[in-house]
Amino acid sequence: MRVLVAGGAGYIGSVVTAALLEGGHEVTVLDDLSTGHADAVPEGARFVQASLQESAPVLAEVRPEAVLHFAAKSLVGESQVRPELYWEHNVGGSLALLEAMRAADCRRIVFSSTAATYGEPDQVPIPEDAPTRPTNTYGATKLAVDAMLTSYATAYDFAAVSLRYFNVAGAAHGLGERHTTETHLIPIALQVAAGRRESMTIYGEDYPTPDGTCIRDYIHVSDLADAHLLALTAPEPGEHRVYNLGNGTGFSVQQVVDAVREVTGHPVPVEVGARRAGDPAQLVASSDRIRADLGWTPRHPDLTGIVRDAWEVAQARNEA
Ligand code: UFG
Repeated sequence: MRVLVAGGAGYIGSVVTAALLEGGHEVTVLDDLSTGHADAVPEGARFVQASLQESAPVLAEVRPEAVLHFAAKSLVGESQVRPELYWEHNVGGSLALLEAMRAADCRRIVFSSTAATYGEPDQVPIPEDAPTRPTNTYGATKLAVDAMLTSYATAYDFAAVSLRYFNVAGAAHGLGERHTTETHLIPIALQVAAGRRESMTIYGEDYPTPDGTCIRDYIHVSDLADAHLLALTAPEPGEHRVYNLGNGTGFSVQQVVDAVREVTGHPVPVEVGARRAGDPAQLVASSDRIRADLGWTPRHPDLTGIVRDAWEVAQARNEA
């Protein structure tokens, strides 16, 4: 298939681009490099530096059969203090992209949505029909785009899939997380292990969980890439599907730190700090729907393996 990957210079977009190329697809990456890296775009993909707002001429020229849309601002904390950036980039940008698709007669899209659309859950594992009550602007903007996709499917026969990611981690195809502002647990712990940071803070150990630290559902980026390839051809025109993507197993912050110590052989000094605002105690996905509908199964559910892959790539890049 001829596909356009918006945000293909970022962590997840670049890994999925590599998987698409491996699967024989023809890929054009569109990325404004606001947070991505040109050298992360896999060899074999064409690269166009442009924003979503500038995407219309690119789509008119490429004439993709499908779009995979990863381009977004994704820092929860920043979204609370600079909401206009999130409404403009995530919602305004997505609208511009959908309009560019319509003009180029491309009506198939896979969108990167998030567990943050659910907010504080009433139950875990979280199914797709759980209430969506985002507790931050980031989650609210992703939920708005999910609603946009439903409208476009109904009105314009788009075939759309929203994949609601839980905690994406690990590395593949030599590509890992490289954020200028790093807020995610595993990369931070690996930087401490490598001596690039002196220590790290565990945000709260008084949660109602077995060891008192928050529980999250870590999914290997390769498993996430598999899901995108399956989702690409799944919906019929007029259909908008929503799938959660997680391992279905939660690990606590303490378990992650222990896994980093085990994999790296380094001590990883930690301090225990206050809770981080807006962190639910437990976020674990029910991925039953995508397993049943598309036959997806995570091939790398093991936490140690996820951490090991992230560590190897970060070390190879001299970053951890
Ligand atoms: N944590 C620490 N110390 C750190 C960093 C994180 O204790 O230095 C803890 C957090 O409090 C949380 C867990 O580690 O309990 C995971 O935190 P991350 O920041 O790695 O990930 P989040 O669960 O906050 O965020 C993820 C996605 C977001 C998405 C969110 C949905 O990365 O994009 O899930 O709630 F919005």
